[in-house]
Amino acid sequence: MERIAELTILTDTDKEACELPRVSVDELAVNKKRLYIESYGCQMNFSDSEIVAAVMRNAGFATTSTAEEADVIFLNTCAIRENAEQKVRNRLKQLTVLKKRKPELLVGMLGCMAERLKTNLLEEEKIVDIVAGPDAYRDIPKLVEEAESGQKAVNVFLSREETYADISPIRLNSNGITAFISIMRGCDNMCSFCVVPFTRGRERSRDAHSIVREAQDLFDNGYKEVTLLGQNVDSYKWANESGTETVNFAQLLERVALIHPDLRIRFSTSHPKDITDEVLHTMAQYDNICNYIHLPAQSGNSRVLKLMNRTYDREWYIHKVDRIRAILGEDCGLSHDMIAGFCSETEEEHQDTLSLMEYAKYDYGYMFAYSERPGTLAAKKYADDIPHEVKMRRLNEIISLQQKLSLERNKRHIGQVQRVLIENTSKRSEDFLSGRNDQNKVVVFPKGNLKKGQYANVLVTDCTPATLIGEAID
Ligand code: SAH
Ligand code: SF4
Ligand code: F3S
Repeated sequence: MERIAELTILTDTDKEACELPRVSVDELAVNKKRLYIESYGCQMNFSDSEIVAAVMRNAGFATTSTAEEADVIFLNTCAIRENAEQKVRNRLKQLTVLKKRKPELLVGMLGCMAERLKTNLLEEEKIVDIVAGPDAYRDIPKLVEEAESGQKAVNVFLSREETYADISPIRLNSNGITAFISIMRGCDNMCSFCVVPFTRGRERSRDAHSIVREAQDLFDNGYKEVTLLGQNVDSYKWANESGTETVNFAQLLERVALIHPDLRIRFSTSHPKDITDEVLHTMAQYDNICNYIHLPAQSGNSRVLKLMNRTYDREWYIHKVDRIRAILGEDCGLSHDMIAGFCSETEEEHQDTLSLMEYAKYDYGYMFAYSERPGTLAAKKYADDIPHEVKMRRLNEIISLQQKLSLERNKRHIGQVQRVLIENTSKRSEDFLSGRNDQNKVVVFPKGNLKKGQYANVLVTDCTPATLIGEAID
């Protein structure tokens, strides 16, 4: 995502907005039916859409980037907050116009909102023909056939095994340089505010060999960066059938890092309770594992963290930050997720969140107002009792502080030379390139003779809270 002169700090409403709508690339589609996919929510969903595109290609569908051209439209949905679902419902309203014009058009709901609402979706949203949960994507061609014959088609079965390990994703909207690789699915953590364990099911890790193969394949095809994805990557654990080979996350990182020094590795998301010194040491050992950790805190107060069922307290989190700084240095990029106004949070407890942010000196963050999700532990046990205005005021205080911290952290780079992987032409100007440094910060600089996919050494001369600005010195 290009972020020059934009806020790095994504709020409750604009995190999804920034990622949206993302559509698939056009393919040559002679005599083929056409599929249009739009993805919402987290990177896992964007990665899943690439699996769905692969499954549909096998069933004879080409992808299109134009909804108007499509025979089938899929919305790969998110349920994390109320407004994420509202966005999808608004989009369905727009699609109703298309469907009126072309009654044979099929509309499918995939992903987390589909899983949460199941067949209710068919009653609530008349336009929907197909409902498929995150573990049902192999079944999609069959569901499409059913829908073509005029029946509504639903599969929301959650699996304990499915990892789509053998499916080669079709890279959608790719810059040809960076790609996501899903290494695990589901989540066993049961944070009390979170709908993900209900929408994505039990945690399972993907075959390590298939992950390394996918990364190797990407590198052979010119990609220079892979991001290993999971809700909680640090609990990755895979064993072969006989149990003679086991791979944990640190070992997986190492295997991918060994593919080639020019292949960068990132990963997301780390859970503070699970990130180990072994992972930090592996990061320190390999230059191509990026020096950046996304370590969601959710709150800086131990009582609130307990209510959230995060299984660590403020001191534990601070200890993890200290280990990161000790092993990976002060410059290691660090970002967070934070929730403002969780059930019963007092003003003092909110202040603890702000003081934790000052302590951790985060480079950036994703910040949200608490949104009660039906069926979660918090919805059952605690009252959503912080008034909307108070939540928003606390959220704004968190965002302002993060702006200040981001600017301070970015200023540290002024005068330094940063190794930048060039990802794109800057959206603001054809004469500028944009890429990211080791710490995941967007760096923008004049093009010169450089090209997408190359590494450049950039002297940083200026910055905003969102972007480093400089010039290539080679
Ligand atoms: N697996 C990741 C988070 C996935 S959800 C982790 O554990 O860190 C992404 C973020 O959405 C969460 O970190 C949390 O900050 C936010 N979030 C989840 N449920 C929420 C809710 N009910 N209201 C507001 N924010 C929420
Ligand atoms: Fe949700 Fe917690 Fe799992 Fe993250 S670790 S997906 S916040 S339950
Ligand atoms: Fe949303 Fe599901 Fe991701 S709820 S954040 S799309 S795991």
